[in-house]
Amino acid sequence: MGSLHVLEHPLIQHKLSILRDKNTGVKEFREIVGEISALMCYEATRNLPTKEVEIETPVAPATVRVLAGKKLAIVPILRAGLGMVDSMINLIPSAKVGHIGLYRDPETHEPVEYYCKMPPDISERQVFVVDPMLATGGSASAAITLLKEKYGCRHIILMDIIASPEGIAVIRKDHPDVDLFVAAVDEKLNEHAYIVPGLGDAGDRIFGTK
Ligand code: PRP
Ligand code: URA
Repeated sequence: MGSLHVLEHPLIQHKLSILRDKNTGVKEFREIVGEISALMCYEATRNLPTKEVEIETPVAPATVRVLAGKKLAIVPILRAGLGMVDSMINLIPSAKVGHIGLYRDPETHEPVEYYCKMPPDISERQVFVVDPMLATGGSASAAITLLKEKYGCRHIILMDIIASPEGIAVIRKDHPDVDLFVAAVDEKLNEHAYIVPGLGDAGDRIFGTK
């Protein structure tokens, strides 16, 4: 059974305040998305299994711990999820990256798939699905359903920087097995299904398209 983790670390909260500010420019916004993603990745990987191995330091033999268990994969939901990948790969360079292209239909707010490319052994990996925003939950739920049904993934963690209560409820209902890590749970969705207060359109703010 998955659970919801709200990451209230002071550094994450401070950086998130800068993201929310409408006066924050593209360069700083993109950098801070990366910094928050690294801090969230640190928390979301806290329970990965490790094993003991023997090495020699320049001074003496030593028994040390290294990552064990499943290999990892990061799956950003395009576009905005791309902003979270580089800083995570810096922390876990052996992780493979799969991409899922989804956009929200502006009228219905339903997710529309336009691209998908996964590593061949994705079903055996611990998958981190990443996207800055969990609004209606439609995109993330569709991405996770695709990973489960088409690729056979069974170990999925979802990381979103800001979530709405509605989006969290959708993930809990559709995918109760998935652990969800967020930096904030905001108040609600507005009539355009944007998160309030949120930070606006994450993709546009990362890539400067508005
Ligand atoms: C945004 C965001 C999520 C989705 C969240 O992407 O990055 O993928 O909306 O909304 P939902 O929870 O209601 O599905 P968008 O569709 O704007 O595409 P973009 O990243 O290409 O800008
Ligand atoms: N997508 C975004 O980028 N922001 C929102 O508030 C909702 C969906």
